[in-house]
Amino acid sequence: MTPTTDLFERARLSRRARALRSSEIRDLLHLAARPEVISLAGGLPDPSGFPVADLGGSSATMLRDRPERALQYGPTEGDTELRALVAERHTKATGRHTSVDQVLITSGSQQGLDLLARVLADPGDTVAVEDPGYLGALQAFAAAGLDLVPVPAPHDGLDVDALAHTLDHATTPPAFVYTVPTFQNPTGATLPMTRRRALATLADRHDLLVVEDTPYADLWFDEPAPPSIASLSDRVVTLGTVSKTLAPGLRVGWMIGPRWLVNAATTAKQAVDLHTSSLGQALVATLLGDTARFDHHLAGVRSSYAARASALVEALHTTFGDRIEVDPPRGGMFVWARLPDIDTRALLRLAAEEGTAFVPGDAFAVTADLRDRLRLSFATCDPARLVEAVVRLGRALDRIGAEPPAA
Ligand SMILES: Cc1ncc(COP(=O)(O)O)c(C=O)c1O
Repeated sequence: MTPTTDLFERARLSRRARALRSSEIRDLLHLAARPEVISLAGGLPDPSGFPVADLGGSSATMLRDRPERALQYGPTEGDTELRALVAERHTKATGRHTSVDQVLITSGSQQGLDLLARVLADPGDTVAVEDPGYLGALQAFAAAGLDLVPVPAPHDGLDVDALAHTLDHATTPPAFVYTVPTFQNPTGATLPMTRRRALATLADRHDLLVVEDTPYADLWFDEPAPPSIASLSDRVVTLGTVSKTLAPGLRVGWMIGPRWLVNAATTAKQAVDLHTSSLGQALVATLLGDTARFDHHLAGVRSSYAARASALVEALHTTFGDRIEVDPPRGGMFVWARLPDIDTRALLRLAAEEGTAFVPGDAFAVTADLRDRLRLSFATCDPARLVEAVVRLGRALDRIGAEPPAA
């Protein structure tokens, strides 16, 4: 295709499509997509933890005994048995009664983010977000034409005082605040209980809707995470998913919230994909319904991730000594680190050449300066490979001062 045709084709795109940008970091990570690279960049769960045998057995039984449930069109709200299970688990976890009609099954929690942006805000409205925050949420909100209002989220999560200040001074209040309070992506931070309470109180005082995204909450290492914000206030919409606990390819997540919101999101979802995969939902219902088995599975994932996290943290300390600052995570899939005075984008280029990869901190920034930060995922590599990845990263760091910066 000639460049002229390319320009002509581009003009056909909507203004919104033209505003969407492929990220420079995605292009950089492309450099690292070679089989010999040990990548700590992706937020992928460990495939050896996928419950393959259980899924295989449940699929065979489901297709034999209840083919219509697994293969027919289904209601947009989701599989009734799965919704009931999700409502029951939420009631137990929050101590607040949750009914089935407060649950919408979504195609991953990513779809929940997109639906919330569509039904809670109009283009040009604002949404308060953690800075740094989950890139997929920032992209979903920006794609819906929302303006992001950053709220600092340092090593221990959302700065609730800063959010209060924003609310006190905003001419128009944000449509909602988006937070990942437990084992955040990218920082691994967990909001302490006092600030969870402060956030709930603030939400009640300002009639502010809190979107609490919880994909990593079950992946704690030594002790369960503090109670959710949803257990402290009614002004909370919870997003959940099985992507990090069972398998992301199932594409099954959920939104739990007030009925008026769930109804609106259901109507919006109808226009997007009619409903989430019937087979995926039926399988997830079977696996979640067997509580003892699911808990056993979770315990295995937790102990494997705990061992990997500590191997990575130890390797970083051994290789970099006091050149690195690391907050050891207490759960989730990520280590967030700082290499003072190092531009981690430049480091990524060299790291890719040395055979490893990570995500530079500024990929997750709204306005914060995170050029010396990096996010390393420990989920997909065993401890020996994590150690090797850090050795390669060490070689890249040794080169960074020795080579002139790329033009
Ligand atoms: C904080 C956060 N929310 C949502 C998602 C999307 O997950 P899902 O696979 O359920 O769409 C991710 C995925 O990495 C995430 O880190």
